[in-house]
Amino acid sequence: MQFEKNILCIGAGYVGGPTMAVIAQKCPQHKVTVVDINPTRIAEWNSPDLPIYEPGLDEIVKETRGKNLFFSADIEGGIKEADIIFVSVNTPTKDYGIGAGKAADLQYWEKTARQILEFSESPKIVVEKSTLPVRTAQAMEKILTSTNNGIRFDVLSNPEFLSEGTAIADLQEPDRVLIGSMETESGLKARDVLVEMYANWVPRERIITTNIWSSELSKLVANAFLAQRVSSINSISALCEKTGADISEVATAVGMDSRIGNKFLNASVGFGGSCFKKDILNLVYLCRSYGLHEVADYWESVIKINQYQQERFVFKMLNAMFNTLSGKKICLFGFAFKANTGDTRESPAIFIAKRLLEENAEVVISDPKALKNARADLKGVNGKISYVEDPYGAACGCHAIAIMTEWDLYQNLDFEKIYRSMAKPCFIFDGRNILDHEKLLKIGFNVFPIGKPAMAHFDLS
Ligand SMILES: NC(=O)c1ccc[n+]([C@@H]2O[C@H](COP(=O)([O-])OP(=O)(O)OC[C@H]3O[C@@H](n4cnc5c(N)ncnc54)[C@H](O)[C@@H]3O)[C@@H](O)[C@H]2O)c1
Repeated sequence: MQFEKNILCIGAGYVGGPTMAVIAQKCPQHKVTVVDINPTRIAEWNSPDLPIYEPGLDEIVKETRGKNLFFSADIEGGIKEADIIFVSVNTPTKDYGIGAGKAADLQYWEKTARQILEFSESPKIVVEKSTLPVRTAQAMEKILTSTNNGIRFDVLSNPEFLSEGTAIADLQEPDRVLIGSMETESGLKARDVLVEMYANWVPRERIITTNIWSSELSKLVANAFLAQRVSSINSISALCEKTGADISEVATAVGMDSRIGNKFLNASVGFGGSCFKKDILNLVYLCRSYGLHEVADYWESVIKINQYQQERFVFKMLNAMFNTLSGKKICLFGFAFKANTGDTRESPAIFIAKRLLEENAEVVISDPKALKNARADLKGVNGKISYVEDPYGAACGCHAIAIMTEWDLYQNLDFEKIYRSMAKPCFIFDGRNILDHEKLLKIGFNVFPIGKPAMAHFDLS
């Protein structure tokens, strides 16, 4: 079959895979190829067991794979035939040298730029999908024009706003698609090509175009604002626990103000995921490098509150369970950083599990999709850890359950049966405020939610 355009995505991860699957589904006239330096990942994308879990992803991949969606380890061949190249490689926080612990590590991204330069034989539109510091497109363009090979490269910024767990719905019906370009004749022409591709399924009024720096910065700012809301409500949850106010009631009252809105106001054990912390650190680093220290301090506090919230959770467990966890068996319900994904990157559960093990507790981890990643995250960590997918089996014989992930399944469990199988007194620490706390108290549990009064069968003073 003759395709109109060859689209390539470099990086077959949580963004590259789902994004390209939806582009292939919505643009059958284009051929979409996803490549990666990791051949195992490519083999998994070509197998019945995809490397990542996202509701709806399996179905789309089955529908399009082998028709106009291809996963391949041939990066050179992919670059040669591509008209449009999305760069969707990882951009983690740098852990060495200048900017360690703050700046984005651009080594994977730069390697990609050099590969594009080396293998290209025809003009390309290169699209930044990865989240990158402001002005990275300029560096990309410098690399791509560093030889006089006469090939035209236009660099666009098209940050991805999908949210893991709802990635497919977010991609099929995005709030907005953002495309940043150089304001040159060929930059604007390249931008129009990408606009036309998205217009296959996204209403035009939701496709916004900006200059390239605004586009790069908008992605960092969007994540910083989202994380800031979580830290804001979590900071107030600490105050609620001291005063007897109820964080859910406060969130409802505050969120009904249409200027504020009610989304992202659930108090919890803290945010996780590969992006929020890294993107804020990146923003903080940018601000500091421009001498904007007050601005940097402001955004840094969002991360500090997140860390504080996790510490507070462990301290609450220790305090409630008579100041010793040694030898006690504690079950974590959920390990993914949020529901409906198997992704555990920066999950608060990693920190909580490690801290509980430091207190010599025995930790049992349960999760419907994230046990493989949990095992990798805790590899080499000292202490007694076991992994049990069935929540009933996991809780059996435990002294406490801590809810780490807001999976629906935890709301529908038979907690009377769980209570009967546990060591007494039984504790539940609801790190997501998803359970019926009154009911649990009646069953016999001592219940410790976030930002609400604790409910126990003994004197808490
Ligand atoms: N995960 C999210 O929810 C999300 C959302 C929006 C934006 N982003 C951004 O998208 C980017 C990718 O994130 P992700 O979660 O998909 O990362 P990921 O780690 O899941 O995937 C990145 C992939 O790129 C591959 N890779 C690295 N260097 C390569 C190279 N030179 N050639 C070919 N492949 C290479 C890796 O092997 C890996 O499979 C990051 O910048 C991230 O900040 C992520």
